[in-house]
Amino acid sequence: MRIDIITVVPELLASPLNESILKRAQESGHAEIYVHNLRDYTDDKRRTVDDYPFGGEAGMVMKVEPVFRCIEKLKSERDYDEIIFTSPDGITYNQHEANRLSLMKNIIILCGHYKGIDYRIREHLITREISIGDYVLTGGELAACVIADSVVRIIPGAIGDEASALTDCFQDNLLAPPVYTRPAEFNGWKVPDVLLSGNFAEIEKWQDEQAYARTKALRPDLLDE
Ligand code: ADE
Repeated sequence: MRIDIITVVPELLASPLNESILKRAQESGHAEIYVHNLRDYTDDKRRTVDDYPFGGEAGMVMKVEPVFRCIEKLKSERDYDEIIFTSPDGITYNQHEANRLSLMKNIIILCGHYKGIDYRIREHLITREISIGDYVLTGGELAACVIADSVVRIIPGAIGDEASALTDCFQDNLLAPPVYTRPAEFNGWKVPDVLLSGNFAEIEKWQDEQAYARTKALRPDLLDE
């Protein structure tokens, strides 16, 4: 899968995209992630990417031309399945959306910034608008990292232990059961006996019950879906 991220602050993306699973997935060829600096698509000396809004409100608005040039260049090179804009007024991101995106071949993520973006970009170029939650970030870069991370980790083969991604919290609309590691007792705190029993059928039953009980207690809304 290929992800192209368009941003005015490429520095914000460097570390999150180049560590841990995202790094390994790129090294092993399961994912290609490219970051494009929107300023490279300006045509003035000051590399202007924003301007004052018509109508005189406060704040700056991202200009249409650099975004158009960048997206058109990418589209001339390959087909894209989705052109995403990160914005607090998009659809709320969740595991279903991550699963859906992980099946795609090429996606673009345009990071929003400033007060907003010239609405014509959203009307004519964007195919999906995604929010990572009901709060406002300074820009869409952190949201783009969240999307890239959650999508790449579930590409088959991207994680060494494939089963691990499939048992992630939220797959099946259930929270994950508790996990423990050695020592079996620390400070008088014991690991549940069943996990030490070696009886895999019992262990699986316990894990299912725990997943259900935790979901019911902490996120009952997931059980209604
Ligand atoms: N940009 C600013 N806030 C955001 C949010 N909550 N989700 C996605 N992009 C954003």
